Amino acid sequence: MDLNNQNSGAAETILDGSRFVRACLRKPVDRTPVWFLRQAGRYMQEYREVRKHHTLVEICKDPKLAAEVTITAAEKLGVDAAIIFADLLLPLEPMGLDFEFQAGEGPVVHHPVRTAEDVRALRIDRASELGYVARAIEKVAAHFRDRLGIIGFCGAPYTLASYMIEGGGSRNYIETKKLMYGNSTAWGSLLDKLVVVLTEYCSQQVQAGADVIQIFDSWVGSLSLSDYRAYAFEASKRLVRAVQAMGVPVIYFGVETAGLLDQMAQTGADVIGLDWRQPLDEGWRAVGHGRAVQGNLDPITLFAPPDVLEQRVKEILRAANGRPGHIFNLGHGIVPQTPVENVQAVVRMVREFRLEDARG
Ligand code: CP3
Repeated sequence: MDLNNQNSGAAETILDGSRFVRACLRKPVDRTPVWFLRQAGRYMQEYREVRKHHTLVEICKDPKLAAEVTITAAEKLGVDAAIIFADLLLPLEPMGLDFEFQAGEGPVVHHPVRTAEDVRALRIDRASELGYVARAIEKVAAHFRDRLGIIGFCGAPYTLASYMIEGGGSRNYIETKKLMYGNSTAWGSLLDKLVVVLTEYCSQQVQAGADVIQIFDSWVGSLSLSDYRAYAFEASKRLVRAVQAMGVPVIYFGVETAGLLDQMAQTGADVIGLDWRQPLDEGWRAVGHGRAVQGNLDPITLFAPPDVLEQRVKEILRAANGRPGHIFNLGHGIVPQTPVENVQAVVRMVREFRLEDARG
């Protein structure tokens, strides 16, 4: 998107899409942009209809369906950005690891990576097989043009490595940390391989029209600061820089990261995602005001009565205090039982919020 070419007539019109990208770059905006982690998902009737006829992976691999699900969710909510419908684990397949989503259990990787030999066997030459995600982005970009920001995404090396090693979700990351502490050569090689594949994957997405890339380091909060520095930071930083070199801003997101924010910001990411466990202004101070932040409503607040929900939304907007570089979002993804009208209500609240009124 050409940010220098928005002057149509006398008044500069800040289009919705550019509003989101401008906030990522800490440029002034007419109002705070808003979108939601997992905005397309099972809480939405339209998505459940599609899921009746297709598995999650089928939707991801069919550019027409993936684009439709992405577009429907963004339009129904009236948000400023559309995140492409895909899944974090898709790159595992071309690397040689088969997985499936088992009902109620989440993802299962059939032959998890446990040894140096397993790491050696991983392939890095087949990222082109992920082209279906880029094809879906092309369709979404053709639909929205510059009306909405289009977000591509991938997992961060640490978080993806944890899925590859644990074979699925985990509570204590025992196998991951056993490899990390016990065989730093194999660990380093695993993260290197992930960076190669993810860089090419992101490049496909940017070429297809993604305006911004979000890197999900969802489970990085399982690491101490020392271990984050020693075992995860460097690979994340390389990925962030490689994506920025493609000419788009990067959002770097994790959960339970209060103790890691300063170090996460040192990856150089343009935007740091904040969870809800600390107030937004404290999180932003830890990140440093030289970067933008995204967040940070507790997704379960969407089950609260309207007045409580409104208080929490306003609290976040007041904490941002009109400073350029805030993107309103949740601190983590929307959960399946969430009432869709409450998500729409949050969009209205953010749209209508005026800092002057809130200061009263
Ligand atoms: O609207 C969007 O946000 C885009 C779609 C999206 C999905 N997965 C689709 C999906 C995105 C951005 C993801 C990312 C993702 N996938 C993450 C990072 C985000 C986060 O939550 O931190 C992670 C950890 C995954 C891995 C994953 N995918 C898990 C653990 C699960 C099972 C959990 C569950 O809710 O069942 C999935 C499945 C999944 N990916 C669903 C969706 C809509 C729900 C399952 C379904 O539709 O069958």
